[in-house]
Amino acid sequence: MNTALAPVFSHLYRRGRTRTIRQVYEQQDRERRPRDLEAVVEIGDQRLKALPAWAYTFPIPPGIGVDFYDLHFPSPLTLAAFKDDLSIIDIWMRLGLGGACIKTVMKDPRTGNKRPRLQEVKAYGFVDCLINAMGLPGHGVEGKIQEFEQSTMLSRGRPIGMSIGGSSVGEYKHVFDRLHTYVQGKNVSYYFEVNVSCPNTPEGQQMTKNPQLLEDLLKYMRERTNAVMGAKFSPDTPDKQLVEFAEMLKRFQRTYMNLGNTTFRKCTGIGLPDDAISIGGGGLSGPPLFGRTLEMTQLIAPTGIAICATGGIDSAEKVKALQKSVRRYGTQLIVGMATAVVNDMYCIPRINRGLAKHL
Ligand SMILES: Cc1cc2nc3c(=O)[nH]c(=O)nc-3n(C[C@H](O)[C@H](O)[C@H](O)COP(=O)(O)O)c2cc1C
Repeated sequence: MNTALAPVFSHLYRRGRTRTIRQVYEQQDRERRPRDLEAVVEIGDQRLKALPAWAYTFPIPPGIGVDFYDLHFPSPLTLAAFKDDLSIIDIWMRLGLGGACIKTVMKDPRTGNKRPRLQEVKAYGFVDCLINAMGLPGHGVEGKIQEFEQSTMLSRGRPIGMSIGGSSVGEYKHVFDRLHTYVQGKNVSYYFEVNVSCPNTPEGQQMTKNPQLLEDLLKYMRERTNAVMGAKFSPDTPDKQLVEFAEMLKRFQRTYMNLGNTTFRKCTGIGLPDDAISIGGGGLSGPPLFGRTLEMTQLIAPTGIAICATGGIDSAEKVKALQKSVRRYGTQLIVGMATAVVNDMYCIPRINRGLAKHL
């Protein structure tokens, strides 16, 4: 499909999504159940899988690719770690992502937090935002390996990130060991990302509070792999600490910082009823994060460590602003997107086209 048609598809996609949300909410209201955006995602995923391939096969324009150490991303756009379903990620890749990081994998299967745990935020001037407190549900590392076995995604030739999580350093190591054993030796381009910034589990930020734990984990990983590896930080991390983390990460070769994750908000602070999210609050994502994403990128770029900038990215202009902020330091940069892809997956070819325009 020609990328010039992306805005048309964007329009249709957004219209269809708005209509589905309205229908699902009306039904939930009728049945006196709490509104729950996850039900919309489930319907959306099924519809996506039924689409013919031509509806999501877009070429990546030449000349916009970036090198990130020895990884080549044909577009700087990557999927931020948030989606579990490999067939949906594969569809998004075919829309033109340069690579994708898979949702944080934990050691054991988890159900996550009680629903509702995902909502739209549309109040106090918020547009196109989400709040989530998923609590890292998933099939555990063995389940993920089985899913890889059945998926063609790894062989698409674009870099795949493995986001690693755990309730203890031992669990992080276990997840890393299993994934590393699985991918090494395969003809696959991959990297590892340590998630140290999940706001939705009690232990999700223990390594931010205790950097030595992260350093020990990175040392453990580097002793076992030459692959590119990084850590993902919260936008709530103070600047001074981010710079210290950059210096620490740089001591290992071929590392990057992912800046950053969602920012914690209470439901009542963003115009939602307290029970809109079962635990009363969660991680806010979407456009309001961008200011901090740019600020963190400007802060870290002079250190020279490679950066994956994540948070609020939804246009070619924002990607260009990030690229401009690192250019004079020669810092390598890719970007991560989550909320924009949920709201409109056709933003991927649209942004790629925008990036190619002023080459
Ligand atoms: C529903 C949902 C689930 C997420 N799950 C994860 C996760 O498992 N691991 C992770 O590192 N970040 C997770 N994130 C954070 C995103 O990867 C991303 O960092 C954040 O949403 C900010 O980017 P955005 O403004 O483009 O959405 C999740 C975000 C959302 C909305």
